[in-house]
Amino acid sequence: MLNISRLLLKLSKSIYRIFGKFIKMSLYSIFRHLHSGFRYIVFILILVAIIQSLLGWFSKKPYTETNRKINLFTLISAHTQLLIGIILYFLSPFVQFNSNTMKDSTTRYFTVEHWVMMLIAIALITIGHSKAKKTETSESKHKTIAIFYTIAFLVILVAITAGHLPILGS
Ligand code: HEM
Repeated sequence: MLNISRLLLKLSKSIYRIFGKFIKMSLYSIFRHLHSGFRYIVFILILVAIIQSLLGWFSKKPYTETNRKINLFTLISAHTQLLIGIILYFLSPFVQFNSNTMKDSTTRYFTVEHWVMMLIAIALITIGHSKAKKTETSESKHKTIAIFYTIAFLVILVAITAGHLPILGS
């Protein structure tokens, strides 16, 4: 009787382990694709926001409701990418905490460098958006968005190339 219950316990532990691994792998795959694909939404929105703010700044155009919405959607998309990234951080096999993490360029990149650079970029977008909201004139709103969003975009590009990841594709 004792043997059977031990056997059952062992069996359920193994099933739990295999099933847990399977769920983790599936979630990893879903979030990796989501994170990889969502970058295009961030790219498109930030590029549109930069172009419209540069045009608005240099052509002295009024700061319209469309401008405001595109800048806001860029901020939201960056924050969404941050949330997906945080979940992915706990699922990715490239995020490791051991004595070899900093020696291996891939684990070092995904455990430390990637999120630090991306967080700087997202902070720049957030600060730029908030500063633009507070300023009075259309010109200063366009100028603030143009400066902060362009630097943020450059940081994102540097972060992606630093990890030898393709800007487009995977
Ligand atoms: C605007 C912000 C971000 C962009 C554009 C971005 C972009 C990317 C790209 C292109 C990849 C490669 C995906 C692939 O292999 O196809 C990646 C991977 C990854 N990102 Fe981000 N990322 C951002 C922010 C973040 C943040 C804030 C975190 C963590 C808190 C994060 C965590 C990760 C992790 C863990 C991976 C590795 C996935 C794997 O195991 O292959 N990302 N990211």
